[in-house]
Amino acid sequence: MKKILVVNGEKYWKDILPDFEVSQKSIQQTSWILKKGSLYVVDTNGIIAPDGILWRVGAIKPSAIQTTALNLIDLANIPCVNSPTTLKRGFDRLSMLAVLQKQGLPLINFQVVTHSTHLKNIKIDFPFVVKVGNYHGGYGKILVENEKQWQDVKDLLFITEHYITVEPYIDYKRDIRYIIIHDKVWAMSRKGKYWKANVGTIDYQQITTRKDWVNHCQKLQAELKADILAIDILEDHNEKWHIVEYNDIPGLSGFSDELKYELAETLKRKMAQT
Ligand SMILES: Nc1ncnc2c1ncn2[C@@H]1O[C@H](COP(=O)(O)OP(=O)(O)OP(=O)(O)O)[C@@H](O)[C@H]1O
Ligand SMILES: [Mg+2]
Repeated sequence: MKKILVVNGEKYWKDILPDFEVSQKSIQQTSWILKKGSLYVVDTNGIIAPDGILWRVGAIKPSAIQTTALNLIDLANIPCVNSPTTLKRGFDRLSMLAVLQKQGLPLINFQVVTHSTHLKNIKIDFPFVVKVGNYHGGYGKILVENEKQWQDVKDLLFITEHYITVEPYIDYKRDIRYIIIHDKVWAMSRKGKYWKANVGTIDYQQITTRKDWVNHCQKLQAELKADILAIDILEDHNEKWHIVEYNDIPGLSGFSDELKYELAETLKRKMAQT
């Protein structure tokens, strides 16, 4: 039986890939070894030399081991979904945003400073959103609504070593996620308890896809050579769509099981080709 390593991620992959020996390890607890061209991954549960890797590292702190592991997967030429090259482009928020910008897609108009002392030079109307560094899952993000709150937020931001992004708050009607896996596209709208639709999500609704946005997904997928990709969009009250980000390790919550099988198939195809 061929061995698949699932890095972080959901617990259901064993059931989706019954014809493989599936092990799951968390990147934070693993050591990686490249020995004579072969890759070994170790944690307290043992060692595995994977034939394929499903990279599902979600909302954890970005750390150097993630980039190192991706480079080792690349060097050992292990089929991985997404590929290490794709994942490394999306690893940092700013390089991810640069890809979207170069595609001419309607991005939220953001400004960036590498230290909070320069925030005084940024002109933006309330309300706006501040995003600190390269975190996921809503972490390091705050909605700033007035001068009094901004003063406190700036004082708090003084202590961070990370870059700071400032962008207008989009008063959105719908938070929409498009997902493309291989050649299929799905769309969904999500609602959160507060302003972040992905934190404390209370409602998911699968919606019909629009042809223009399916095209955007396909074009971005081609540029990134991605097996799976999500584009997160905010629809404002004038029906205008603004892109928040793309995500190359998107969560599949709220979508049908079909997506899990489609993703498993992409990995199986890659493994069969190697
Ligand atoms: N400028 C904005 N205006 C209004 N809402 C926003 C804005 N930026 C983000 N949001 C809301 O907050 C949520 C989280 O923001 P974002 O996707 O940028 O970061 P994240 O969730 O931390 O990253 P990741 O999706 O990689 O885990 C979005 O899904 C959206 O609902
Ligand atoms: Mg997001």
